[in-house]
Amino acid sequence: MPTETVYGLAADVTDGAALTRVFAVKGRPAAHPLIVHVSGEAMLGTCVTGVPDGARRLVRAFWPGPLTLVLRRSRLVPDAVTGGRDTVAVRAPDHPLTREVIERLDRPVAAPSANRFGRVSPTTAADVEESLGEGVDLVLDGGPCRLGVESTIVDLTRDTPLLLRPGGVPVEAVEAILGAPLPADSGPPRAPGMLATHYAPQARVVAVEAGDVGRLFAAMRPSVEACAVLCPTDIPVPEGLARLDAGPNDVSYGQRLYTLLREADRRGIRHVIAVLPPATGIGTAVRDRLLKAAADVP
Ligand code: TXA
Ligand code: MG
Repeated sequence: MPTETVYGLAADVTDGAALTRVFAVKGRPAAHPLIVHVSGEAMLGTCVTGVPDGARRLVRAFWPGPLTLVLRRSRLVPDAVTGGRDTVAVRAPDHPLTREVIERLDRPVAAPSANRFGRVSPTTAADVEESLGEGVDLVLDGGPCRLGVESTIVDLTRDTPLLLRPGGVPVEAVEAILGAPLPADSGPPRAPGMLATHYAPQARVVAVEAGDVGRLFAAMRPSVEACAVLCPTDIPVPEGLARLDAGPNDVSYGQRLYTLLREADRRGIRHVIAVLPPATGIGTAVRDRLLKAAADVP
């Protein structure tokens, strides 16, 4: 199903067989929990045991929209969705087709991004066909996703709210509603090489700060034909290198990110030098995805 962020692989949250298929089709480990999609605040109430004040303010500010809240789960939400956790991630997607599906079903819908585990998220119906092919019963074509990067995830089950994943709602906007800084989850440091690559195309992604492209390209010396630079329009690209144009700003970079990584694979590009945007607005999410796509690179 389409959402404003990326396409989701949807299953009725109360249908155990459908949930099992979601994990099988994605090739996703069972312990990796799914986001539950609801029509709004009332349906959120059926998924959780309580909505703290900060969560309620966020819901009213950003739903429907690209903000996922982690709260204590109710009995409606099975272990299969949460990987056995006592918390659940919930959001109300902002896409008319998918809102209608949830409203008519009158139950929440669990949906991870509709890609194979670890790969690039789909932002068009054609991307879903390419990723999952015969594995799914139906693809609802709602056109290209408006935002192109996944939702922002905020954990509200601790003493203070925690950012689990930057996404479509800028961190600054969440902080403004909460009236407090939103620290990022700083879990145990993971050794390079042990970190599973995520959001990754077939091409090797090397993430660099703007200004480092030339130096990095000289150090890498891949063949020019098999190398491209993913960057905003105003960043110069070394002579002879292909450009994957992320457009003028952080919003266009988010919209085009996954499309351009898929395009790189289609064109047989083996190395993508990705220029990191500044860490503001959607740029924070774009940086996060590029660094994860590049996680196997020292
Ligand atoms: O924009 C989005 O959020 C898209 C669209 C389809 O809604 N969905 C999406 O789902 O990105 P997925 O499965 O690719 O990512 C879900 C993320 C994972 O990082 C997972 O660990 C986290 O949500 N998550 C889910 N339940 C959680 C929980 N109870 N506690 C902490 N993290 C959770
Ligand atoms: Mg995903």
